[in-house]
Formats: sequence, C-alpha cells, structure tokens
Amino acid sequence: MVKICCIGAGYVGGPTMAVIALKCPSIEVTVVDISVARIDAWNSEQLPIYEPGLEDVVKQCRGKNLFFSCDVEKHVGEADMVFVSVNTPTKTQGLGAGKAADLTYWESAARMIADVSKSDKIVVEKSTVPVKTAEAIEKILTHNSKGINFQILSNPEFLAEGTAVRDLFNPDRVLIGGRETSEGFKAIEKLRDVYAHWVPVERILCTNLWSAELSKLAANAFLAQRISSVNAISALCEATGADITEVSHSVGTDSRIGPKFLNASVGFGGSCFQKDILNLVYICECNGLPEVANYWKHVIKINDYQKSRFVNRVVSSMFNTVSSKKIAILGFAFKKDTGDTRETPAIDVCKGLLGDKARLSIYDPQVSADHIERDLSMEKFDWDHPVHLQPMSPTAIKQVRVEWDVYEATKDAHGVCFLTEWDEFKKLDFQRIYDDMQKPAFVFDGRNIVDAVKLRHIGFIVYSVGKPLDPWLKDLPAVA
Ligand code: UDX
Ligand code: UDX
Ligand code: ADP
Repeated sequence: MVKICCIGAGYVGGPTMAVIALKCPSIEVTVVDISVARIDAWNSEQLPIYEPGLEDVVKQCRGKNLFFSCDVEKHVGEADMVFVSVNTPTKTQGLGAGKAADLTYWESAARMIADVSKSDKIVVEKSTVPVKTAEAIEKILTHNSKGINFQILSNPEFLAEGTAVRDLFNPDRVLIGGRETSEGFKAIEKLRDVYAHWVPVERILCTNLWSAELSKLAANAFLAQRISSVNAISALCEATGADITEVSHSVGTDSRIGPKFLNASVGFGGSCFQKDILNLVYICECNGLPEVANYWKHVIKINDYQKSRFVNRVVSSMFNTVSSKKIAILGFAFKKDTGDTRETPAIDVCKGLLGDKARLSIYDPQVSADHIERDLSMEKFDWDHPVHLQPMSPTAIKQVRVEWDVYEATKDAHGVCFLTEWDEFKKLDFQRIYDDMQKPAFVFDGRNIVDAVKLRHIGFIVYSVGKPLDPWLKDLPAVA
C-alpha cells in the first residue's frame, strides 16, 4: 500500500487528504499536525472546520485509510510521499516585513523530514509559497539527507473555502510542477497517478517547478484583480446611477471575459488573496520590477478603499454619526459556507464603526463569540506601512455583543449591515426586523443579497454596493 503523509491539518491539508483517501482506497493517508487540539477535533464528531460535505467524506474513510495523528515524525518517516501544507503567513518583522512570506513553519517541516527519513521520498509543496521556495527546500533536504533521494514537487491547491469538497471532486485543473530530470519526471508521474484515480488526465497539467509556484500566485492575483476591478466600477456606478449588477452582467457575457467572479462586494477577504498578492509584490521588488509591483499593489489598495467607503457610507447616511447607535452586523466570515474569518472585510468594517463609537451586535451562523472578540481585539498589521496598529481599546470592545439569533441582533438597531452572503439572510422576515428597529431603519447591503425594492416598500432605507442610491440617500453629501 502506498503511504501518503500530509504535514498540516488545516483548511487545505484536511479536506484535500480526505478526498484523496476517499478516491484512492489503495492509498493510506495520514494527516499530522503539531496542534493536539486540531488533531483531536479531526478525530471527533465536531471537525475543526466547517465545510459543506466534508463530514461525510471524513466519516467514510476515517479509521480505514484516513488517519489523523500528532505523531508527526513516525508518519513522515514511513511515508512514500509527504505533502507539506503548513501555514505561510506574511512576515511581520525583519526583511520583507509586511509582504514576504514567513517560511518558518515550512523550514522546520523540511528539516524534520530530513531528520526522520530513512527511505527515498517525494516531497510535495501544497501550501502557497513564493516562487523558488522549492529550491530552498531542496537545499535543506539534500544537505541533510544521508544519501536519501528527495524529489520536490509543487502541487498548489486551488480549492476555495465553502466549496472545498466540490472543487476537490471536480477540479478545473490539477497542477504539478517538478524538476526536468528523469527522476523529476518519475516523481511527477507518481503524483499524477494519485489524481488520475478521479481527475481526467487532460486536466492534470505538468510544468516546471517555478511555473507551478508562480501560477498559483498569479491565479489568486488575477481573481482578486477581477473583484477590485468590479468594486472600482461599483464606486462609479454609485456616482452616476448605473447599476453594477447590470454592468457586470454585460461585461461578463463577453466570452473573452467570462461571467464568474464579478460580484461587487464590501471587499474580498480570506487567507489567500491579500497574502499572495503581497508575496507577488515582494518578489517583483526583489527582482528589480517596481512598476510591476505597484500594479499589483493597487488591487489591494482598491480593496482597502472599498471597505472604508462602506464604513463612510454607513456613517454619512446616518446623519454623520453612529455614536451610541446600535448597528447589527449580519455575517462575519469572509464568505458564506465557512467559519473562517481570516482577513474578513467584517473586521475592518467593525473596527471602522467602533472607531465612530457605534454599538455593534454581531450575528454569524458559523463564527463563535470568542472568535469574533479575538479578531476584533487583535492588533492589526498594516501591509502598506509595515507597523503594528494599536489594538482596539477595551472600551471599544465592550461596545460589541455577539448574538446567536438574527432577530435579537437586529432588535432596536438603527442600521443593519450585511457583510457575508449567507443563504439564510435571503429568507429573513424583514417586516419583523423593520417593526423591531429604530426609525428610520437603514440597511447597508455589502453583498447585494437583499431585494432592495421589497425592503424599500416595507419602509427601509437601503444602500446596496454599486446600485442607484435610495432616493432618500441622494440628498446627502457625497462620500469619498
Ligand atoms: C477591441 C475589442 O476587442 C472590441 O470588443 C471593441 O469593440 C473594440 O476594441 P480591437 O481593438 O479591434 O477590438 O482588437 P482586439 O482583438 O481587442 O485587440 C486589441 C489589441 O490587444 C491588439 O493590439 C492585440 O494585438 C492586443 N492583444 C489582444 C494582446 O496583446 N494580447 C491578447 O491576448 C489579446
Ligand atoms: C481563493 C481562490 O478562489 C482559490 O482558488 C485559492 O485556492 C484560495 O483562495 P477562497 O479565498 O477560499 O479561495 O475564496 P474565494 O471564493 O476566492 O473568495 C475570496 C473573497 O472574494 C471572499 O471574501 C469573497 O466574498 C470575495 N468575492 C469573491 C467577491 O467579493 N466577489 C466575487 O465575485 C467573488
Ligand atoms: P491552510 O489554510 O493553508 O491550510 P492552516 O493555518 O489552516 O493553513 O493550517 C496549517 C496547519 O499546519 C496548522 O494546523 C498548523 O498547526 C500546522 N503546522 C504548522 N507547522 C507545522 C509543523 N512543523 N508540523 C506539523 N504541523 C504544522
């Protein structure tokens, strides 16, 4: 039986390995992690991440050919193929602070692999890393290898959270990069055989190592760029009376452009887009390409602008002050169908409103109160000026309540902000919400999920991203 071990039981490692185990009964898959709590959760009824369909997949294979363990060294030592899926946050100190990837976890994983290996291994880069990381990892492995042959492959994961299982079952493509040597080709072939259990071979793309690493950064940068492009146009729509939904549709029906990823929003979040673009920016700067670096930087700047534009709109439309007003925040995760809040626009929006002394009542179906409070009290790292900003003051944090019921969150509120596009928000009893709110009752839809016409009919004043303004809002001074 071929043995696969994956280091890192997170959002990428966990679901990917579960699907490999399901689709390849002849392979024994073990996911290891240094976090005992995470491994315990993977072995329990309550998985550590919320992902539609994942529980089903894990239950079918766990204990058969899928295992979760903290005994990192034993399982790495025994494996034929080791996937590395550890976290690669942005560096907050030293050279490249604010942009470069912090490869500490990666390096320690590589050193451990070199230490415990007694047989030849294929080491697969799964976490997104800067271009040429494979070269550094190769050096660490081969200089400590006691004659063992290591082949490094780059196999970046393209799954999106909330649709991870669907994406893994039916990927647009699987990308495998390797050394262009006969040993390298053999290693690529072995990994291709794993995916070929369920992915059509024409969708398995094989490239050189650097192309695979760069393609992942470039794909995320292109996706984020589409959102920043549409969000930039949304600001112009609000100023002119055009409707972003109509514009996006018209633009997206050009088959050269395509319809997906053109939804205007309060801004993109998630662990990948900002981090990967910053990484790309840093690589460009290090390679003497400041113009290219600046080009990509602006994708993040527009994202920051979109978040602050949203906060400004809330404050300015509520008579230029939200001080002591109760504002309901519906949705805190960075997108629907996940409990993940990394880089969620909700953090910046909430901080902005708290800065104006609002009282916040937050509801999200998958994010716990502890988690939200931790996110809001953590100091933020400003990517553009690599300094730590002051954390929220304890007085500001006291203005936050987390509710487990939408109607509690919105009761007596002056305004409601939709920050995540959870499906359940489309089915709310808006008449009940309106009746229980202070008047005038405002709705700020950061995801364009509510039926603004219906809500205006009930009596709400509605602000949607990139849509013609509520006639009531038109009379107010324009915001930047
Ligand atoms: C463009 C739009 O495509 C068309 O829809 C609009 O109505 C008018 O403007 P056009 O300028 O005629 O049409 O040609 P297009 O095929 O878009 O090419 C424009 C330029 O981009 C050309 O110089 C072309 O060589 C270049 N190009 C195009 C690239 O460099 N790379 C590409 O991948 C595509
Ligand atoms: C992304 C990539 O899609 C995935 O391929 C890669 O492997 C990891 O990064 P993820 O961050 O999980 O996945 O979610 P994604 O669906 O890409 O959404 C990212 C953010 O963009 C979310 O905050 C989402 O709400 C926002 N978004 C997405 C928009 O604002 N508008 C859109 O049209 C699409
Ligand atoms: P991603 O979204 O890329 O999957 P996560 O942060 O969710 O990232 O997961 C990365 C996991 O890797 C974490 O659970 C972390 O504990 C684990 N990890 C980091 N370094 C090591 C290591 N040296 N050995 C084992 N696990 C590690």
